[in-house]
Amino acid sequence: MKDTTKTATLTLNGQSYELPVLSGTAGPDVIDIRKLYTQAGVFTYDPGFTSTASCDSTITYIDGEKGELLHRGYPIDQLAEKSHYLEVCYLLLYGDLPTAAELEDFESRVTKHTMVHEQMQYFYRGFRRDAHPMAIMVGVVGAMSAFYHDSTDINDPWQREVASIRMIAKMPTIAAWAYKYHIGQPFVYPRNDLDYASNFLRMCFAVPAEDYEVNPILARAMDRIFTLHADHEQNASTSTVRLASSSGANPFACIAAGIACLWGPAHGGANQACLEMLKEIGTPDRIPEFIARAKDKNDPFRLMGFGHRVYKNFDPRAKVMKQSADEVLDLLGIDDNPILQVAKELEKQALEDPYFAEKKLFPNVDFYSGIILEAMGFPTSMFTPIFAVSRTVGWISQWKEQQSDPAHKIGRPRQLYLGATRRDYVDIENR
Ligand code: CMC
Repeated sequence: MKDTTKTATLTLNGQSYELPVLSGTAGPDVIDIRKLYTQAGVFTYDPGFTSTASCDSTITYIDGEKGELLHRGYPIDQLAEKSHYLEVCYLLLYGDLPTAAELEDFESRVTKHTMVHEQMQYFYRGFRRDAHPMAIMVGVVGAMSAFYHDSTDINDPWQREVASIRMIAKMPTIAAWAYKYHIGQPFVYPRNDLDYASNFLRMCFAVPAEDYEVNPILARAMDRIFTLHADHEQNASTSTVRLASSSGANPFACIAAGIACLWGPAHGGANQACLEMLKEIGTPDRIPEFIARAKDKNDPFRLMGFGHRVYKNFDPRAKVMKQSADEVLDLLGIDDNPILQVAKELEKQALEDPYFAEKKLFPNVDFYSGIILEAMGFPTSMFTPIFAVSRTVGWISQWKEQQSDPAHKIGRPRQLYLGATRRDYVDIENR
């Protein structure tokens, strides 16, 4: 973070206040208002943080106008094509691409932590059989702090490291078991001779009576989905993790908070909502009706998988996801998938529509991901848990960055109060 010679001047009640302007390595400058309240006695007002930088970070950068996403400087399309999820995890966590030896050591550390405490099985069994896998994940991940006491001291860098590895390693097992429980099948244990994505697919689709032969092309597609969702700077769930951790809460509790936030349909829940929407549309001839509904101010309906707070251009992840959808369906011999046809036609018609063009609404990462996941055999209820598995490394990297900054403070926003002013209590008989 660089101080610039620039300042911004705020004039209020006839008095001027000079506010420092800070520059990052990319992106807009920020006006530093940290001393504003002490000096001028006012707050700033920005519900939804549309113009507020809540922290400084060196992990991920998005240029929403260009439609560019960089992790530690590397473009997401290059990472999706040339790298793989665990290498991207290393990059996000430690700042640079690993050497071959560093990668081998990291992969071995993650692989050796894939099992979860055996007693956690009983915790799963407390959930109703038909519980949504996200509900199970919020509970089980929060409960990890009751099982892994030896990595909850956030002031110990070693424990922070152990908690990070545990979380990345165990999240596929936790999500796969949430799925198994949800469909009434026995839990399948991880196998350490498999790569991260293959292991996850096998834990979801194998049964004790019959193993699951992992198709390497599907494993690659799964790995790419993990990679594309790995981090996305200060989005709602990441900001939730940071806010929870700012109070000193343990990492498992913080990640559980992130999973809860991710669940909503405006965020990670959009992939489930999007596929459900595409199925509801059903055939291309019904698209105009749904586009008209999305444009109607009196109808709460929105095109799911469309629009983004930051991207005012194509979401670069959506481009890779669309290509992946074609590859996976082709591999599975599904060349006439009606939902993919509806998705492509909907994208085309929406992009040609002035409403979407003027508001700069483009397909986001969730638009095509559900089609791939369904083709792989996942029910819609597993889409957001898979997003949670992928995003865990982003949450953890941002949490570690925050915790290793000695200057970090508890997050404590203020408010514009519109309620009743002071009034005296009235006894019940006089009301
Ligand atoms: N369909 C129709 N209109 C839309 C849509 C949409 N999908 N998205 C935004 N708009 C309109 C909105 O009505 C508003 O119009 P106006 O200015 O006339 O009031 C304008 O565009 C700006 O929308 P906003 O809600 O103020 O923008 P936001 O930055 O607060 O919301 C968003 C971003 C992603 C929540 C929103 O675009 C949306 O609800 N999209 C659908 C859900 C979705 O796909 N979410 C996944 C996001 S990417 C993955 C992730 O974050 O997890």
